[in-house]
Amino acid sequence: MANVILKDIEMKFGETHVLHKMSFEIKDGEFVVLVGPSGCGKSTTLRIIAGLEEPTSGDVYIGEKRINNVAPKDRDIAMVFQNYALYPHMDVFENMAFGLKLRKFPREEIQARVNEAAEILGISQLLQRRPKELSGGQRQRVAVGRAIVRKPAVFLFDEPLSNLDAKLRVQMRTEIKKLHATLGTTMIYVTHDQTEAMTMGDRIVVLKDGYLMQEDKPLEIYNNPTNQFVAGFIGSPPMNFFTTKAQLNGGVVLDEGAFTLSAPANLKVKAGQSVVLGIRPEHLYLDDNGPVKATVEVAELMGSESYLHATTGKHPFVARVASTHEFKTGDSVRLSMDNNHLRFFDGETGDRI
Ligand SMILES: Nc1ncnc2c1ncn2[C@@H]1O[C@H](COP(=O)(O)OP(=O)(O)OP(=O)(O)O)[C@@H](O)[C@H]1O
Ligand SMILES: [Mg+2]
Repeated sequence: MANVILKDIEMKFGETHVLHKMSFEIKDGEFVVLVGPSGCGKSTTLRIIAGLEEPTSGDVYIGEKRINNVAPKDRDIAMVFQNYALYPHMDVFENMAFGLKLRKFPREEIQARVNEAAEILGISQLLQRRPKELSGGQRQRVAVGRAIVRKPAVFLFDEPLSNLDAKLRVQMRTEIKKLHATLGTTMIYVTHDQTEAMTMGDRIVVLKDGYLMQEDKPLEIYNNPTNQFVAGFIGSPPMNFFTTKAQLNGGVVLDEGAFTLSAPANLKVKAGQSVVLGIRPEHLYLDDNGPVKATVEVAELMGSESYLHATTGKHPFVARVASTHEFKTGDSVRLSMDNNHLRFFDGETGDRI
């Protein structure tokens, strides 16, 4: 078993408190993505699992075993970094074999493992090349190969694709998912890119400022974000937010009277309470009788659909509509909202209500 458990991890660098009560479990064979903005503590969390940082307090388990005091090299973990730093004077074979040589594996075993990993990654024909003779994507594959040959119980990836151009990133995303399907090994993948998180993760753990915000399956996080931060962070274009004040009758009316909306009867709000109404761009649709009167600022044609950047009253928002009509700046449109997809957040705390 190679599940990974973090229990009440606190991490301080001097006065800087970087991780707060970080607890989550990654099941054996799962692909989990840690996602959050820059500086939220993703790499620190990964480095604690790898044993490259010692937490201030809290426990790390792999399988049944508490590994706080186990040296990194004995943790049965392989890590792929953003700056994968291949040895420039070694060819691909030697780069991949290096870790095994250090661990005194027999020659035939090294040969077999490197060949097998090269086969999986489609780089068998590159084994004699030096890193400078490789493309960015090929170098990245070698870095992954270096981890594969170790046959670790857990793979850790720290933003491994961020040095690649957009097209290659998309391709490598699929390759890493395929690799996971082939190997079936537990993988923990760190990124600040919500698209990578959504497309790759069996499960996503969202972090902010060293706090765990939410952990769940991608679609569940997308549909039921636990707070306004997660709602705004996951999804592109992001969820639209309108700040309103709850009226006495429990109905929610938008500030400047841009449109009126009755909140669901079971929404627990107090009169005068600040409420943020959230609606994703695909849940606004063009409707000649719709309550939202808006003016188009910019229409982005994406192909089959268009992103309408518009304003209603003073509120900017984005609607994702079919490209059946060519919209121009200044066009007046009316839209409706899909009420099932309205999400409400506390205007003070950001928590879902
Ligand atoms: N050795 C250190 N000493 C002091 N502060 C540190 C140290 N390492 C990290 N930090 C701080 O801890 C916080 C979390 O850093 P971390 O590298 O984990 O963020 P991250 O989520 O990986 O960000 P990024 O997306 O930019 O890589 C940051 O505020 C960072 O400045
Ligand atoms: Mg980082």
